[in-house]
Amino acid sequence: MFDLEYLIPLALALSVPARAFPAHASLAGLRTEEWNKALATLKYTPPPPPPGPLECSGTKLVNDADHPFMDPQPGDIRGPCSGLNTLASHGYINRTGITSCSEIITAAMEGFNMENNLARFTCYAAFLVDGNVITDKLSIGGKSDKTGPDPPGPATVAGLSTHNLFEGDTSMTRADAYFGGDNNFNETLFQEFVEYSNRYGGGKYNLTVAGEYRFKRIQDSIATNPTFSFVAPRLFSAYSESVNPINFWVDGRQDDGQLDPEVARSFFEKMRFPDDFHRAARPMNGENELEVLAAHPIEPGSNINGVNTYTPDPTSGKLADKCTLYENHVNRTVRSLYPDPTGDLLDALKINMHYFYTSVQHRGCKEIFPYGQ
Ligand code: HEM
Ligand SMILES: *[C@@H]1O[C@H](CO)[C@@H](O)[C@H](O)[C@H]1NC(C)=O
Ligand SMILES: *[C@@H]1O[C@H](CO)[C@@H](O)[C@H](O)[C@H]1NC(C)=O
Ligand SMILES: *[C@@H]1O[C@H](CO)[C@@H](O)[C@H](O)[C@H]1NC(C)=O
Ligand SMILES: *[C@@H]1O[C@H](CO)[C@@H](O)[C@H](O)[C@H]1NC(C)=O
Repeated sequence: MFDLEYLIPLALALSVPARAFPAHASLAGLRTEEWNKALATLKYTPPPPPPGPLECSGTKLVNDADHPFMDPQPGDIRGPCSGLNTLASHGYINRTGITSCSEIITAAMEGFNMENNLARFTCYAAFLVDGNVITDKLSIGGKSDKTGPDPPGPATVAGLSTHNLFEGDTSMTRADAYFGGDNNFNETLFQEFVEYSNRYGGGKYNLTVAGEYRFKRIQDSIATNPTFSFVAPRLFSAYSESVNPINFWVDGRQDDGQLDPEVARSFFEKMRFPDDFHRAARPMNGENELEVLAAHPIEPGSNINGVNTYTPDPTSGKLADKCTLYENHVNRTVRSLYPDPTGDLLDALKINMHYFYTSVQHRGCKEIFPYGQ
């Protein structure tokens, strides 16, 4: 299962009475008494409904005068997602890095032309585990583990950096949490990304490269990381991040699925749109992640007894089956983090679970109600 050790700093923070519970910290995994203390300092803000699709959904200049790049100021938070970091640097989401799903969904559509259901699916899945469902705030990063350097931002809040929920192993340009530094851009790994783009893509990162590089990163983690875990929900974010650069970082006027690694660096490392950047030519839904998996099919699983002990886990949802991913996420992951919610917490969880469901409704998935209707 996932690692709950990240909650220890929160529990410590709570035992100091003078310290208010951070409004953007997740409440997941807290005990009832801890939650009661936290609630006393937090105001319940029910989440607004998710934004609908864009009306004008073609390409356009997005690195525009209304969205200038600015470096994060001291106290601003950045995290493991290069897409959200970039949206924060340009003010599409709050530059502090503290945001909400309604803001992220609008920003991902506006700034990158992410298709509405994909933006909903990704955001509510992450928000339910890493966000504060009472205040409707999500931190795009924070403290991830006890060994690596901390990214900028308050150290007791983990946000999207929380290990083994959404953030996870075998990232493209971030080392595994086991080695520390899973939030931060790693030049060594980026050079491997470039090398694979040269070897399989004629110097560009494309879907062929994505299939090979995803497999390589998995093999690296199997061989070097004794704690390697590759099950849902990380499974979903790993394939999604393999195709995101192809779908969202190729200029919409170019629109050929061939990404220049120096353009990729602008996002991965500098968290910045290239000059004159135009978003994708149409809403992109990420279905090409299945081609990445098809290049080297691998079952969800983990190293169960040290390096090179990768063992499939048949209970994990699989990439192609979004209905099972949805069900497992709400019925197992979220429910194990919130075993017995009441009051506003129960209300907030039910609303966010329903918003999450709306992202898979068009696939014919059945809505489930882990906490009753
Ligand atoms: C819609 C809400 C989104 C959420 C909640 C989200 C969350 C995350 C998280 C938690 C990670 C870390 C996974 C890991 O490597 O361990 C990640 C990685 C990544 N995200 Fe996002 N993301 C979102 C949207 C986007 C968008 C719009 C883009 C691209 C435009 C994007 C591009 C990426 C890329 C490329 C990585 C991989 C970074 C790397 O491996 O070095 N994401 N995302
Ligand atoms: C960004 O967040 C801060 C702190 O939560 C808030 O004071 C500010 O008004 C927000 N900015 C925008 C543009 O919404
Ligand atoms: C970057 O990743 C490489 C390969 O995983 C690792 O050896 C190195 O220690 C990492 N560097 C930093 C600064 O984390
Ligand atoms: C990626 O680039 C290589 C080299 O140009 C090419 O052979 C391959 O077909 C490309 N793949 C895709 C999906 O564009
Ligand atoms: C949810 O999980 C419970 C047991 O934890 C199980 O009884 C129930 O059938 C599950 N519901 C769905 C729809 O998977």
